[in-house]
Amino acid sequence: MMIHELSNPVVKTLVNHLRESKTDALRFRHIVQELARLLAYEALKAERLEDKMITTWQGEQSFSFIKEEDLLFVTILRAGLPMIESVTTLFPKASSGFLAMKRDEKTHQSVLYYDRIPECKGKTVIIVDPMVATGGSLCDAIAVIKAKAPKKIISLNIIGSPEGLAVLEQKHPDIEMYIAQVDEKLNGQMFIMPGLGDAGDRSYNTEK
Ligand code: PRP
Repeated sequence: MMIHELSNPVVKTLVNHLRESKTDALRFRHIVQELARLLAYEALKAERLEDKMITTWQGEQSFSFIKEEDLLFVTILRAGLPMIESVTTLFPKASSGFLAMKRDEKTHQSVLYYDRIPECKGKTVIIVDPMVATGGSLCDAIAVIKAKAPKKIISLNIIGSPEGLAVLEQKHPDIEMYIAQVDEKLNGQMFIMPGLGDAGDRSYNTEK
């Protein structure tokens, strides 16, 4: 697997604002949306363009576009919701799929309890999830998607641990990952350090 960590200072600044406790849920989701877009730009920078005839103010002319009908964005509830909102705003003709997983707080294993992913054949599937902690959720999501035989799988993530990324590299060496920040380590509770807390809780004001 190729892991591309973004080095852009705009990206680093936005990630570090996510770490601040005073960043409230609205601003947190807003930054997550901006980062999702920056990751999508980077991930699609070599995407093939296709010529299409369009009607312009000067009549019919051919211009090139990404074939957005071939893009399928998949997110893992719930922290990924702001990410999928923002990337599908760029590509209104792309389709979306949803998975719900919950980390079992004792075993730290992720459990899949909702799967609404459309046909993947011929599609570039782009998974969006802010956090890669143990890597369990993302590995499971990739396995579900691989079973549907897409053309390609790309993962867009905001923050990850070296441990989680190593698991991904070992289990799914054939996917591409674009990530805004690789942090130092996982702690004993399987939280990313220094991290930003739980992205789902930070986004939806459910911190205990
Ligand atoms: C978070 C995050 C990932 C997962 C990463 O979701 O959005 O899906 O944890 O952890 P892992 O790499 O150890 O699997 P969480 O389970 O906290 O649910 P939430 O999005 O509803 O908060």
